[in-house]
Amino acid sequence: MTSDHSTPDWEQYANWDRHYVWHAFTQMRDYQPLIIESADGCILKDIDGNELIDGVSSVWCNVHGHRHPKINGAINNQLNKVAHVTSLGMSNPASIELARRLAEITPDGLEHTFFSGDGASSVEVGLKMAFQYWHQRDKPKPQKNTYIALGSAYHGDTLGSVSVGGVARFHQMFEPLLFNVIRVENPNTYRFPAGVTPENATQYYLSQLELTLAEHHEQVAAMILEPLVQGAAGLVMQPSGYLRGVRDLTRKYDVLLIADEVAVGFGRTGTMFACEHEAISPDILCMGKGLTGGYLAMSATTATTEIWNAFLGEGIKTFYHGHTYAGNPLAAAAALASLDVFHEENTLANVAEQSQLLCDLLATRLAKHPLVGDIRQRGLIAAIELVADKENKIPLDPALGTGSNVCLAAREKGVWLRPLRDTLVIMPPLSVSSSQITQIVASLEYGLNQLK
Ligand SMILES: Cc1ncc(COP(=O)(O)O)c(C=O)c1O
Repeated sequence: MTSDHSTPDWEQYANWDRHYVWHAFTQMRDYQPLIIESADGCILKDIDGNELIDGVSSVWCNVHGHRHPKINGAINNQLNKVAHVTSLGMSNPASIELARRLAEITPDGLEHTFFSGDGASSVEVGLKMAFQYWHQRDKPKPQKNTYIALGSAYHGDTLGSVSVGGVARFHQMFEPLLFNVIRVENPNTYRFPAGVTPENATQYYLSQLELTLAEHHEQVAAMILEPLVQGAAGLVMQPSGYLRGVRDLTRKYDVLLIADEVAVGFGRTGTMFACEHEAISPDILCMGKGLTGGYLAMSATTATTEIWNAFLGEGIKTFYHGHTYAGNPLAAAAALASLDVFHEENTLANVAEQSQLLCDLLATRLAKHPLVGDIRQRGLIAAIELVADKENKIPLDPALGTGSNVCLAAREKGVWLRPLRDTLVIMPPLSVSSSQITQIVASLEYGLNQLK
């Protein structure tokens, strides 16, 4: 392509975008550019000035809206001090303060935070920490060198996180490159195996897990799971009591528990961390996405003192892992400001209010639609699963692109949404207003009614 230095218009940007930018999770042959130039609160503005509600929080990370004055201010203040210093053997006040605050707000016992850049890295860190822990704790168990993960798990796109992942269409291609993991059945509140009912589901899934643990625990370093909601699997939700049971069983069988709260952390499910719903503390907790309010790339893996202690000592006990921009002070400043905004704006109260409204509207406006098979929700995570046959829960043919077509039509009504195939996803910033929730649901109702 030739370069052109005159002020580009939409057409020019779109051409360059299609040619030079390789977009994530996007079929570039079919890509239709949507070019956002600015944003304010929950509203995105494209380069032609069209406004769209950010209905999935810029893929599940924005918390208090875009261009929040407090977070903008904190980043600017930090910029006037220093933009970046390494975390290899040195530190900065913003990331020190953030690690201290995370120890305060994460579930009990999690005290020591390792910073990295994105959710997948926080998972890699958690997996490697768990592995190394068993080699060098007081009574080592080096034979513990594998993991338990849920079927259809999604923990990111690096090879370690893909190894513990299980979404066939994302992960199958890379199978020859991956390490072996022991899978347990996906807990699911919509599609139960034969003989399983909502009443006995928790017990069923836990008994499956216990069989696996009883057989393999001597080889298992850790079990990893997305607590309460498996995101990329299609917002598959776990029955009540499952997470608590997983914690009890992993303790019973001396297996570490890694909670991947990259998607569900920071208020998304109605509590600061999803683990709080079932009053559990994992051994390792992974955070990303909402950590900086959705502003800057930063993730964190926090661990117990038991794990930390196993890494204290001579040379080889060191955790030889790190990322150049880990603990970046600009990102840490944004994260600290975001935590302050949770208090100042009583964000969790808004999540409670708006999630109730969302629940009511989904029930009254969408539940009766013939394609709506299931509506499930946890705080401000809502999934509307479209099916070909409601009675028998038969999925739609993915080639029809029904979920995408509904979301494309919703754009005509000023709402940007990105489905997981035929599961419609609603995950707005936690600062969303009642009128915006109403508009999101109305746009989906419109989108569904536009289907031929
Ligand atoms: C549960 C979970 N873990 C990890 C990740 C990976 O995060 P990132 O995309 O920041 O690498 C995601 C991303 O969606 C996720 O949902």
